[in-house]
Amino acid sequence: MQRPAPTDHPVHEIIRERWSPRAFSEKPVPTEVLRSLFEAARWAPSSSNEQPWAFLVATKDDQASHAKMLSTLVEFNQVWARYVPVLSIAVSELAFARSGKPNRNAFYDTGAAVAYLSTEATARGLFVHQMAGFDPHKAIELFSIPSGWEPIAAFVIGYPGDPQSLPEKLRERELAPRTRKPLSDFVMSGSWGQPAPFLKS
Ligand SMILES: Cc1cc2nc3c(=O)[nH]c(=O)nc-3n(C[C@H](O)[C@H](O)[C@H](O)COP(=O)(O)O)c2cc1C
Repeated sequence: MQRPAPTDHPVHEIIRERWSPRAFSEKPVPTEVLRSLFEAARWAPSSSNEQPWAFLVATKDDQASHAKMLSTLVEFNQVWARYVPVLSIAVSELAFARSGKPNRNAFYDTGAAVAYLSTEATARGLFVHQMAGFDPHKAIELFSIPSGWEPIAAFVIGYPGDPQSLPEKLRERELAPRTRKPLSDFVMSGSWGQPAPFLKS
């Protein structure tokens, strides 16, 4: 299903077409495509080129691993994510590997890597749906995530499915209009709260 962003200003079609569905096809994601998606994440920029991210990935062809990762999601997300062929958890390294000093941009950089992955996915007709609704402590335990690394967000990757397959409440959300804050709320100049002058036409 297409749900292009109703933007106020023109943007690249990849940005317009990306969205976060909950209805996914069960069609598997080919391994070479998966490799390209994580390759895209690999080329995201990061502070000091630290690349402070790691991804745990579970595909449906390994049912035990898929079920294990699914069990880290909150019930609301399990309802729809169970059908998606690829599950992943993005993990950040909290300190710089070389100096051991805290890396205050680790989460920021990890988010950028997932944004790159999502953009590559959109270009290939796939969709990514990120989730804060998971239990990071359970993920640490089940996947033996070492100390110094923190699970940040879970996400699914797959091909779009039929919204009619969703329970009613989720179906309504799937079809609701897409909204965003206006640019004037968050693009500022001069001092905090002053919308940037270039926003006025
Ligand atoms: C870090 C993050 C956490 C999110 N957590 C959840 C979640 O737990 N469950 C869910 O259904 N959607 C989740 N979302 C999806 C957002 O609700 C969605 O991105 C937002 O409503 C904007 O919609 P769009 O991505 O379709 O443009 C999350 C998105 C992000 C980036």
